[in-house]
Amino acid sequence: MVMLDFYSKQVRAAHGEEKGMRIGILTSGGDCPGLNAVLRGFCKYCFSRIKDVEIYGFLEGYAGLINKEYKQLAPADVENILDMGGTILGTSRQPYKLMTVKEGDAPTKLQQMVENYKKLKLDVLVTLGGAGTHKTASLLSVEGCNVIGLPKTIDNDIYGTDITFGFHTAVDIAADALKRIRTTADSHSRVFFVEVMGNKVGWLTLYSGLAAGADAILIPEINYDEDKLAQFINRKKASGARSVVVAVAEGVCSTREAAMSKKERRDYLDECVSTSAAERLCEVMSQKTGLACRATVLGHIQRGGEPCAYDKFISTQIGAYGAYLAETGKYGVTVCVRGNKLSYNVLVDIAGRTKRVPADGQQVGLAKAMGIYFGD
Ligand code: F6P
Repeated sequence: MVMLDFYSKQVRAAHGEEKGMRIGILTSGGDCPGLNAVLRGFCKYCFSRIKDVEIYGFLEGYAGLINKEYKQLAPADVENILDMGGTILGTSRQPYKLMTVKEGDAPTKLQQMVENYKKLKLDVLVTLGGAGTHKTASLLSVEGCNVIGLPKTIDNDIYGTDITFGFHTAVDIAADALKRIRTTADSHSRVFFVEVMGNKVGWLTLYSGLAAGADAILIPEINYDEDKLAQFINRKKASGARSVVVAVAEGVCSTREAAMSKKERRDYLDECVSTSAAERLCEVMSQKTGLACRATVLGHIQRGGEPCAYDKFISTQIGAYGAYLAETGKYGVTVCVRGNKLSYNVLVDIAGRTKRVPADGQQVGLAKAMGIYFGD
């Protein structure tokens, strides 16, 4: 606590002993387990260390800041929420690209947020969110608001942090589902395509696929070749395997699809009966292999319910560390985990960048060396 005492003395001196702090906080974008644990960690730190602190929770993400809808949080509001899934503040998706769109004489959403930030005399705004939330947080920071981001998403794709809260719970859920699929696949000698969330990145599919012993793992970072995948499945079955389980990220793309123009791909997807990657794959592979194939889409179950112990731990720490940054006046930043330590990145440096699975990295390399197929 030596470091904390040093900084808080500095801040108290800068603000004057008597000045309280007004903090706005919101949860934005797709929810995930751990949001409430972060809110609790953040608020508990503030209530215990910052004199006369007032914390305003904006409702439904940035919408609450745009429309000035909020509630003041009291210690009791965050007391028993560590285990709780979802978010007590509610959330919504407010697309980044619409933030600066002008409609007639009305102020833009960005202008409304900056105005409300000022009207409410906030000292700092804390945003719990993923990639899109961080882009807007960065915009607000450029507009002169004091902003601190906290890295949330089951996708684990925020640039500059080893881990985002919510990710490990989703890995546990997806891995458990894949494991359960294996027993039914074995019983019926079937090939299963299990769709895991992740539109742009394959972290969740990679981790859960490896943790559940999937035979093949298909991720958006590596385009798969349909014929080679069919050959892999046939070889696997011919070698005596009763089942083949393929973990498929939501955003995978075949080499055939990748060769299409944007318009051709859109037309092709429009013609497909299913919008799900696993279901499309299932159809193509059952024709190519002649085997009994099935698809399962895990969907939003991966984002629901109680966080796993690791997420409760890291969310609590991220919340408390975010509060420490607020207390010490470190703004325009977002919390990150590097190695085994909490730190921060500058918002404008990481906004708009994506942390992708390196196709030639160690994790994929070791998995391939074990015979796990990645579609290339
Ligand atoms: O960003 C988290 C995530 O769950 C992605 O994995 C997925 O592609 C997307 O959100 C689904 O969004 P929605 O909840 O709006 O359907």
